[in-house]
Amino acid sequence: RLPSRVTIYEVGPRDGLQNESTVLPVTIKAEFVARLVDAGHTVVEATSFVHPKWVPQMADAEELWRMIDLTPGVRYPVLVPNSRGLRRALDLGVRDVAVFGSVTETFSRRNLNRTVDESLEMFAPVVADAREGGLGVRGYLSMCFGDPWEGEVPVSRVLEVATRMWRLGCTELSLGDTIGVATPGRVSAVLDALITSGIPVGSIAVHFHDTYGQALANTLTALHKGVTTIDASAGGLGGCPYAGSATGNLATEDLLWHLHGLGIETGIDLRKMVDTSVWLAHHLGRSSPSRTVTALAG
Ligand code: HMG
Ligand code: MG
Repeated sequence: RLPSRVTIYEVGPRDGLQNESTVLPVTIKAEFVARLVDAGHTVVEATSFVHPKWVPQMADAEELWRMIDLTPGVRYPVLVPNSRGLRRALDLGVRDVAVFGSVTETFSRRNLNRTVDESLEMFAPVVADAREGGLGVRGYLSMCFGDPWEGEVPVSRVLEVATRMWRLGCTELSLGDTIGVATPGRVSAVLDALITSGIPVGSIAVHFHDTYGQALANTLTALHKGVTTIDASAGGLGGCPYAGSATGNLATEDLLWHLHGLGIETGIDLRKMVDTSVWLAHHLGRSSPSRTVTALAG
């Protein structure tokens, strides 16, 4: 049975813009966030409090945060890799954060300069302090469905790292297909393993990149397993600066077309999203890769 309502966790301003070669002016980023909320989004991942040398696109995190006109009832999570990042976020009054780990060693080193064990040690005080402050804490797990350097990733490995992140106290886990290689059978196997282990399905989100055009098939598989939080990025922006082969996330508009066609409510206005992605494409100087945006634009 499919859920009647799904929460779209919008990652455009973060996962989307972190990988665009054009660094947008902060005023455009703030308008982007405002447009997403106006379209009906209730979760908009706004930015990252990471090292500016590692991700220069997110160097304006503080400035952007101060420009966002926070709407009651909307969550604006930010990425924080370590206690330094959490401190920066707390100083601004952020209420939702995300730590981001990897199930594979290679990506962990490339993205965080840490082994998986070291990254979990780094996250432990971040999650504990954030929870103590009453914040929501998402735990991302990258490379759950395949890794560009290590190839196939055993389901048992995903389960192991997911369990450790969950035990740290994360309130939600997001399973990342960082390079977009997942197919439905694999999605099914990973979700079955996590759900059987006792991680509540209501606390599991899926994060698909669309490199091989499988993101919607994978999403439908996850919906059938009971997942009700789906990550997506406006216009299909994005990728990951530390995983070269990744293309953009599942486009929010393609996801909306899919969900609304199934009669699943999202509370988000597709027309406003298309207009936003067309507007943003103009500022980025490249057209949106989303099929739905292309079909409905103009
Ligand atoms: P490091 O070089 O090991 O850092 O990087 P360090 O702890 O050794 O500290 C070195 C210096 O950086 C120190 O300054 C720190 O204060 C400073 P110094 O004392 O030398 O002057 N520093 C910071 N400055 C600002 N903000 C901070 C911060 N932390 C330390 N938070 C580090 C380790 C984690 C910082 C670095 O590797 C990093 O910033 N990585 C971020 C990578 C990233 O953002 N990747 C993209 C997001 S993940 C993703 O896209 C995947 C996802 O979408 C899911 C999926 O698709 O799979 C989520
Ligand atoms: Mg991603």
